[in-house]
Amino acid sequence: MTSPSAKSSATGNVPRHVAIIMDGNGRWASGKSKPRHAGHRAGVKSVRSVVEAASQRGVEYLTLFAFSSENWARPEEEVNRLMRLFVDALRREVDELHRNNVKVTFIGALDRLQPALRDKISQAEEKTAGNTGLQLIVAIGYGGRWDIIEASRAVAKKVADGALQVDEIDETEFARSLQLGTTPDPDLLIRTGGEQRISNFLLWNLAYAELWFTDVLWPEFDAKHFDEALLFYSGKQRRYGHTGDQVKVVGC
Ligand code: FPP
Repeated sequence: MTSPSAKSSATGNVPRHVAIIMDGNGRWASGKSKPRHAGHRAGVKSVRSVVEAASQRGVEYLTLFAFSSENWARPEEEVNRLMRLFVDALRREVDELHRNNVKVTFIGALDRLQPALRDKISQAEEKTAGNTGLQLIVAIGYGGRWDIIEASRAVAKKVADGALQVDEIDETEFARSLQLGTTPDPDLLIRTGGEQRISNFLLWNLAYAELWFTDVLWPEFDAKHFDEALLFYSGKQRRYGHTGDQVKVVGC
């Protein structure tokens, strides 16, 4: 959804939706004279810590950028190992996620993934579909521009089919066709690994997100760093184009 609905959660000034670009696995591994895939493996531990911390702090949605559309261009061996890692991680973690009431969904061009991974994804989504706790959204084979093009196609098709009039296309209608659908926009974007860019992640949905960057490499990122990001967020006044005085009066 495009209009920023998330100002604070029931527990205070906690972002409802946190999105994370998990960067720095390769550099972490190189720094330890290990192969890159060792960095990705170590990154799973950070995913576990952050999912737990997000649940405990009252975050409602956590979207993780696990594999971008551009990552397909990496060496075949790294891509294959990453895909196997996703399969293994799902095999090992889904029961625990389910016990913790986490609902898991996936976004991205999933039809490009190997059948073994697609099966694990479907199983994880089915098993956790009724859970009411944290909603964990994992982006695999995802690109923000791809998302916008796909949504444009879906909207164009509705118009061609006569199900939608051209002048009915507005931000809300368009966003419905994006991968995140009616999920509230991320309030906070965290990027680890020292780079300060969005790298084709959730281009539409991050329009009003607060951005928090850290040099910490993803395998070293833990609940303490997550809390630092939440603290940064809690000090922000979100104005959505209004003035600070307007925000104080109407709380927009
Ligand atoms: C970016 O670091 C990281 C990735 C492309 C993979 C992220 C995957 C995981 C953390 C594995 C676990 C994920 C889930 C959801 C089970 P990089 O390789 O670009 O690091 P670099 O910039 O140091 O090279």
